[in-house]
Amino acid sequence: MFKILGISRSLRADSYNTALLRAAQKVAPTGLPVEIYTRLRDIPPYDLDLDYPGRRPPVVQELRERITAATGLLIATPEYNYSIPGVLKNALDWVSTDWTRAEGLPLLRKPVAIIGAAPTTFGSVRAQLALRQVFLWTDSDVVVKPELIVFRAHERFDESGDLVDESTVDRLRNVLDALVLKIRADRQPHLAAASA
Ligand SMILES: Cc1cc2nc3c(=O)[nH]c(=O)nc-3n(C[C@H](O)[C@H](O)[C@H](O)COP(=O)(O)O)c2cc1C
Repeated sequence: MFKILGISRSLRADSYNTALLRAAQKVAPTGLPVEIYTRLRDIPPYDLDLDYPGRRPPVVQELRERITAATGLLIATPEYNYSIPGVLKNALDWVSTDWTRAEGLPLLRKPVAIIGAAPTTFGSVRAQLALRQVFLWTDSDVVVKPELIVFRAHERFDESGDLVDESTVDRLRNVLDALVLKIRADRQPHLAAASA
């Protein structure tokens, strides 16, 4: 069974991006559970002196382990000042490394889908593009298309935070389907090796 870890950059309760992850939980196909990560606010600033096994803050170690255990990531991000919100980038920095070359890189070849929402007309597109650049360096396997740029987000969610815009729901479904295809494609070499 696949297991997707959903990470919303936003810390605020009424976040459109967290609401987008909740919508993903609802529309995800059977066999694709989406867990929402809730400890982003506890991640301390990146510190290279602490970024070694046994020295990392437990919350960071836990995030590394959860990403390693997940079959894929679904990241929902707003845009802050035309780019990736610092809190999200900081967390990604903590999970991008393996200085001992003994633990493995949590993001290496990890299937990732990026989505985002904002009440503005640009709907997080610049942050999404900047995130794709980060995942180039980490050698993660990012879904290129379809994109999900939820602009004018306030028009697409109802007062209880449910995604009610049908075209956005369809597109979200398509993103999840593309993530599943990516996971399956990534597994092909392992399946081929196992049956050899
Ligand atoms: C510090 C800050 C910077 C922002 N910069 C941008 C921006 O560059 N582009 C944009 O479209 N919205 C920007 N916004 C507005 C966010 O898109 C908006 O607050 C959005 O609702 C945040 O996502 P959330 O609902 O998931 O918390 C900014 C908001 C904050 C607080």
